[in-house]
Amino acid sequence: MKFTERMQSAINEQINFEMFSANTYLSMSAYFAQQGLDGFAHWFFQQYREELEHAEDMMRYVISRGGRVEIKAVDAVETNFSSALEVAEKTYAHECLVSEKIEALVRLAAEEKDMPSQDFFWKYIREQVEEEANATTLIDRIRLSEGHSLLFLDKELGERK
Ligand SMILES: [Fe+2]
Ligand SMILES: [Fe+2]
Repeated sequence: MKFTERMQSAINEQINFEMFSANTYLSMSAYFAQQGLDGFAHWFFQQYREELEHAEDMMRYVISRGGRVEIKAVDAVETNFSSALEVAEKTYAHECLVSEKIEALVRLAAEEKDMPSQDFFWKYIREQVEEEANATTLIDRIRLSEGHSLLFLDKELGERK
């Protein structure tokens, strides 16, 4: 089964974007940790780890197809945030952007008649449904907690596996 140059370079770009996503969430985790919101910090740290796992999974996939992995410089991420709601809204927007990129990868795999790559990225289409839902749930819960304490929510988020 053919693994084209075009498919390989698109996946390498996605690996880079997963690392950018990881750093984005690590930056958000640090923002919360600095304010003593350890549960939020933990939730975003787990999110960071998941994004690294995506990058590693895609890296292993390229290798399994006999391709060449290229790890490139990762763009600087945002470091200034002003509220939990702002962070959650940015998380949702970011995940929507990731979804578009994954959709483009499935389309490219179809164009390249690369069935294994289609199959590989369908898994991430399903993953993105979950990622967008997690972010909207977080936005809803922060809105609900407005006027109350974020601390109760913080405790719950601290239990994420
Ligand atoms: Fe990801
Ligand atoms: Fe994600």
